[in-house]
Amino acid sequence: MSDNILIIDFGSQVTQLIARRVREAGVYSEIVPFNQVDDEVLSNFGAAGIILSGGPASVTNEDTPRAPAKVFEMDIPVLGICYGQQTMVAQMGGSVTASDHQEFGRAFIDITKPCALFEGVLGQGDNEQVWMSHGDHVDALPDGFEVVATSEGAPFAAIANEEKCFYGVQFHPEVVHTPKGTELLQNFVSNICGCSGDWTMASFRETKIQEIREQVGAGKVICGLSGGVDSSVVAVLLHEAIGDQLTCVYVDHGLMRAGESDQVVTLFREHYNINLVHRDASELFLGELAEVTDPEQKRKIIGKLFIDVFEEEAKKVGGADFLAQGTLYPDVIESVSFIGGPSVTIKSHHNVGGLPERMNMDLVEPLRELFKDEVRALGRELGLHDDFVSRHPFPGPGLAIRIPGEITRKKADILRKADAIYLDEIRKAGLYDNIWQAFAVLLPVKTVGVMGDARTYDHVCAIRAVNSTDGMTADYYPFPHDFLGRVATRIINEVRGINRVVYDITSKPPGTIEWE
Ligand code: XMP
Repeated sequence: MSDNILIIDFGSQVTQLIARRVREAGVYSEIVPFNQVDDEVLSNFGAAGIILSGGPASVTNEDTPRAPAKVFEMDIPVLGICYGQQTMVAQMGGSVTASDHQEFGRAFIDITKPCALFEGVLGQGDNEQVWMSHGDHVDALPDGFEVVATSEGAPFAAIANEEKCFYGVQFHPEVVHTPKGTELLQNFVSNICGCSGDWTMASFRETKIQEIREQVGAGKVICGLSGGVDSSVVAVLLHEAIGDQLTCVYVDHGLMRAGESDQVVTLFREHYNINLVHRDASELFLGELAEVTDPEQKRKIIGKLFIDVFEEEAKKVGGADFLAQGTLYPDVIESVSFIGGPSVTIKSHHNVGGLPERMNMDLVEPLRELFKDEVRALGRELGLHDDFVSRHPFPGPGLAIRIPGEITRKKADILRKADAIYLDEIRKAGLYDNIWQAFAVLLPVKTVGVMGDARTYDHVCAIRAVNSTDGMTADYYPFPHDFLGRVATRIINEVRGINRVVYDITSKPPGTIEWE
């Protein structure tokens, strides 16, 4: 029997979270946009169950998307979420109305009847928090369905046809604001669909290796390595799949952190025996960046030079048919477009912007379905050293955007030292893995100090640490004062050129994580 769940995407911003929750239950799932699902896809996929996602459209309009009729004729369980519930109801003979009473955000449901979806999680009479986001709601059920939960704005908050194993929820079980949502989804995939729940990163690794081999054939693949976790995991996975057909290129733009280049080169060339081109392009980058102070200008220059160097190095190894990138799931922002026809608008974040077009290569993006922590789990599965797997994110432009104002090699050297001390103290305090991202910034401001009996007039160093889930919002990390004091003392004593340290206590928003 199949052990996979098919998620039909109607364009909700949180569809990817459904896939994630299903995977957390140890079940493999795939998301397919509604306009790419036909009878053949349904037959070939062989799902143990189907989840219909939410979406921005209204089923009260005739030309909005529907699930293929076959979905309800396959004799497998179906769970409709929000829009998914509404289209299921409409397609099976019930009705949906656009309501004056819209519900957005936190709401409470009353469980009115036991059903398999709630089994062991919620009982009749329970009042439970959920997350709603809807204007329309179901107002008449198709034959065979009954209401199993209600809310103030949605009298049909959860519905069930237990005989057919069809369920619908008006709320979103996939988001964290529905505290019992994960358990409900687990009930659906395990108890109702009968999936075994033994999908693991090890099986993902095997599947991906097969897929990469099929995609690449005898072609050559080039992969930009930055030393970050995503590109490192891509490189190791590809190497396992296609060995010497892979060449990695590591471009040192002179704005990497202390010891970074050595670490990357040693790991990939010596430990993994991966073809690795290490190009020291620091003269070129620092030369072009001289006297540039505008942050966006810095990014543009670095982006363009990176492509130039990458292209040169790719030519030297005889070109490549494919470019491998560490694109992650959150980078694939929009899933489906209804407006403007059937085309699917997928907005990819290209780690190496512009390269695929210029170099006429196809993309290999084996991490597209994963979230950052899943990439880390895959890295561990591949035996990648923990130094790489649990690294904080590091921006492509590197220290360039942590030196506001003019960038010089001298300033980069000063910052590298301060940053290394700061991270060393964070590691010694056992805090590295509790923090999402931490780094030092060298300010263009000089202040007066006194060291020994002498006057100093040196730079200010700002240190920053934040916690975040996806980098979109962030809170500053509440270090104990004695820790901050220790870091400041070490930086001022050990780094020539800095005589004052400040701690950045700005959250995002209104700040950003980086200073530029
Ligand atoms: P901000 O500063 O926008 O940063 O709050 C959010 C996350 O993105 C990283 N970042 C970048 N990464 N190129 C990158 O590859 C960039 O130009 C860039 N700018 C910011 C930043 O380090 C943080 O993790």
